[in-house]
Amino acid sequence: MKQTQLSLPILVGTHRKDNISSQVGRYLYEKIQKRTNITPDLFLASDIVLPQDDYGQALNNTVPSYAHAIQNSDGIIIVTPEYNHGYPGTLKSILDLFLDEYMHKVAGIVGVSSGRFGGVRVVEQLLPVLRELGLVTIHTDVYVSEAQTYVGEKATKDTTVLDESIEKFLDELSWMGSVLQQGREQT
Ligand SMILES: Cc1cc2nc3c(=O)[nH]c(=O)nc-3n(C[C@H](O)[C@H](O)[C@H](O)COP(=O)(O)O)c2cc1C
Repeated sequence: MKQTQLSLPILVGTHRKDNISSQVGRYLYEKIQKRTNITPDLFLASDIVLPQDDYGQALNNTVPSYAHAIQNSDGIIIVTPEYNHGYPGTLKSILDLFLDEYMHKVAGIVGVSSGRFGGVRVVEQLLPVLRELGLVTIHTDVYVSEAQTYVGEKATKDTTVLDESIEKFLDELSWMGSVLQQGREQT
């Protein structure tokens, strides 16, 4: 299969003040920039003003840059903290803005937590939502446990293992994203 160029926006799904997930999103963005086959874009939930008009419609002028990115993307990478074993309501609302625009595109999830479990429960919670949106999930996730020790000003830990998991994740996203892109073009 030929390697194709993919456009993959990163959505950081929390608007909590001083959240660490945005730092993880920026870290991931920089990693992706080093790849030649993925064009990333970074969107923070805190920058997206949720509209009052109908959800599930692309006709949404309140968040034009995000709408444009999703419409023209090959999928989405979601960076989400785990809040009470679930996803932030803000993230769900932003995902609900669109429907058809996600169809047959790839989705990858990066779970973030300050504790030891790296958001494993929020990743499980999010999978059925993404499926219902028509996104195709991959079997490889990234779990950033004790996130504040890997990214941000207070980071102290060696990132070798995290970086390896990110590369594996991006390899899988690239494979599935390319397959789906070719499928959409040819079908
Ligand atoms: C409302 C709330 C609920 C949380 N629930 C969980 C949780 O269920 N599991 C967990 O590992 N961490 C939980 N945390 C802690 C987060 O892991 C921590 O805030 C981490 O920094 C990631 O979130 P952030 O991007 O908002 O900073 C919670 C934090 C908040 C603010």
